[in-house]
Amino acid sequence: MAQGLRVFKDVSTSSLKNKNIVLGIAGGIAAYKIPLLVRLYKEVGANVQVLMTKSAKEFVTPLTLQTLSGNPAVSELFDLDFESDIGHIKMADNADLMVMAPATANIMARLANGLADDIVTTVALATKAPLLLAPSMNVNMWNHPATQRNLEVLVNELGMHTVGPESGALACKWDGKGRLSEPGQIFEASEKLFAPRSLDGKTVLVSAGGTREHFDPVRYLGNPSSGKMGYAVAEAAQKEGARVILVSGKTALKTPFGVERHDVVSAKEMHRVVFEHLAQADVLVMAAAVADYRPKNASAQKRKKQGGPWQVEFERTQDILAEVSKSEQRPKVVVGFAAETEKLVENARSKLTRKKLDMIVANHVGKIGSGFESENNKVSILSSSEHEELENMPKKELAKIIVRKTVALLS
Ligand code: CTP
Repeated sequence: MAQGLRVFKDVSTSSLKNKNIVLGIAGGIAAYKIPLLVRLYKEVGANVQVLMTKSAKEFVTPLTLQTLSGNPAVSELFDLDFESDIGHIKMADNADLMVMAPATANIMARLANGLADDIVTTVALATKAPLLLAPSMNVNMWNHPATQRNLEVLVNELGMHTVGPESGALACKWDGKGRLSEPGQIFEASEKLFAPRSLDGKTVLVSAGGTREHFDPVRYLGNPSSGKMGYAVAEAAQKEGARVILVSGKTALKTPFGVERHDVVSAKEMHRVVFEHLAQADVLVMAAAVADYRPKNASAQKRKKQGGPWQVEFERTQDILAEVSKSEQRPKVVVGFAAETEKLVENARSKLTRKKLDMIVANHVGKIGSGFESENNKVSILSSSEHEELENMPKKELAKIIVRKTVALLS
């Protein structure tokens, strides 16, 4: 990882060449590193427009930034010269990338809430360009639940990217997480945002969560699936550049940024919505826990309790995966899950063959710390040529592995 300044032999190799970068500087001591970042961007032929909060000017001078960037360093929202020249909305429109460095706790809070009370936050709200945050602050401010909540909103709801913060000695004399990443690291994170991704141009259809099969309007047959695994796959595929269509059973989860979500309740609805989108999909990942049976005679009204037992007759639902595999619209790659309580590999391999899947992710449900509702999962991944047992790991990490293996199957 490059640190500080670095010199390119061939500037044409940088993905930042000719890109318009709006660099927002907030008021933190680490602002003293930003002139070096401006130089790195300029070295590879990027156009840099510096914006500063009022307090940023206490730490680094507009003259330095203006000299290095070759553009006026603007700190007033209604700067008369600047507004008559290009104006803040035009700048937001022209940006290919906006970088906030240092991103202080205060500016993160303002961005998370959509405040636009100075030139930096106004342009951040107005631009459609990707936004890269390089946080820097005291370790306790970083760890504060308010900052962590804002970070969650900025990344997961608003789709912003982050680099750092790093751990180490802080200017405030504390030791811990909160150091601004080095200019070289921020530069490399900026470059990566323009690098090709493994699912660019592909459409990934993902199902997640459990279905509910109603007996009557107030009672249903369900399962404890939280949807976390499927949502993590949707998020990981979106981050790899895919258009992601998520067909979701009832869940408390928030839609990952950039993902197109369709809510369903029953297996029948899930079948319909999956088939509606099948022709567009290059990949289908069926992470949903779909009911295999539903009450045969569901009642439109609430069933009143009566003496004696309630006998319900169940009928089979459609097996979505098995039908997809037989369909002419079968996506190139079809991935299933197998929730098992015994004979994990044997049962999963049988589903792989029976449902004509390219890959199956088998997990042992009913174990504490893995499977339904858990943050973690311990799985085996099987394909015709592979059988890999993975460690117990966070579902978000596992999702990245599943997406990587799917990309390999696609090619
Ligand atoms: N699945 C499906 N449609 C169904 C049931 C399951 O598409 N009606 C999918 C699930 O989304 C999962 C895979 O099939 O990807 C295996 O689901 P699982 O519940 O493990 O197995 P079943 O096929 O239901 O078989 P069994 O109940 O015998 O274990």
